[in-house]
Amino acid sequence: MDWSIQILDSASSTQDIVKDLAWGEAPEGIVVQALEQTDGRGRHGREWVSQKGNLFFSVLLRPDVMAQEVGSLALVAGLSLYKVLEQDKWPEVMQLKWPNDLLLSDKKCAGILMETELAGAYVDYVALGLGVNIVSAPKEGAALGGEAIAIRDDFLEQFDKYYKQWKEKGFSSIKEDWLGCAHEIGAELSVKIDQDHVFGVFAGLDDVGNLLLDCNGSIRVITAGEIYLCS
Ligand code: BTN
Repeated sequence: MDWSIQILDSASSTQDIVKDLAWGEAPEGIVVQALEQTDGRGRHGREWVSQKGNLFFSVLLRPDVMAQEVGSLALVAGLSLYKVLEQDKWPEVMQLKWPNDLLLSDKKCAGILMETELAGAYVDYVALGLGVNIVSAPKEGAALGGEAIAIRDDFLEQFDKYYKQWKEKGFSSIKEDWLGCAHEIGAELSVKIDQDHVFGVFAGLDDVGNLLLDCNGSIRVITAGEIYLCS
């Protein structure tokens, strides 16, 4: 992929800029980074605090896949970022939390927001937004240190490989890699879906990236929600 990278001093949200470009028929591979965001957003409509010094960027993708196949792309992005960030973190432990959070010693250090526009049954475009806490983090989070530009470029290089594999062979060919970087099969999980909490044991992922939760012997397929490891 020939990435085309634009850096802005400030933006409301890099997601909105990439979406505007997508409506203007921009090709995939455009990357918009902002040094700060005034209206950065996270999953479930939450604010993503976006002060200078951290990394904020969005990528425009146009995978030629059906709507039901695209969800696992967020997991692929999480795995790519994990591969970049895990280096040299010992003795702290980096872990993926389904669907695509990155934890450093159980504290969130990066997040991924995937927003998808459909054209009928197919994907028109994906705006894939990444926020990495480098110099600062909310009090329950962790800051990683490091060089924002190097992290961005290493991510793009790593993601390029997995993206190609995902398009050619599907998520099932990447699933074992993802599982190797996440909480262990058998871990007790609590999944918050809307206002409800569902408890169970992590039983893996299906071939499109949904979470499999063993609830007293019956497997529930979790397609969305908030997940917390039980202590
Ligand atoms: C989450 O964990 O809730 C996802 C956070 C995603 C934040 C990034 S920062 C760059 C891009 N622009 C945004 O407004 N959000 C994403």
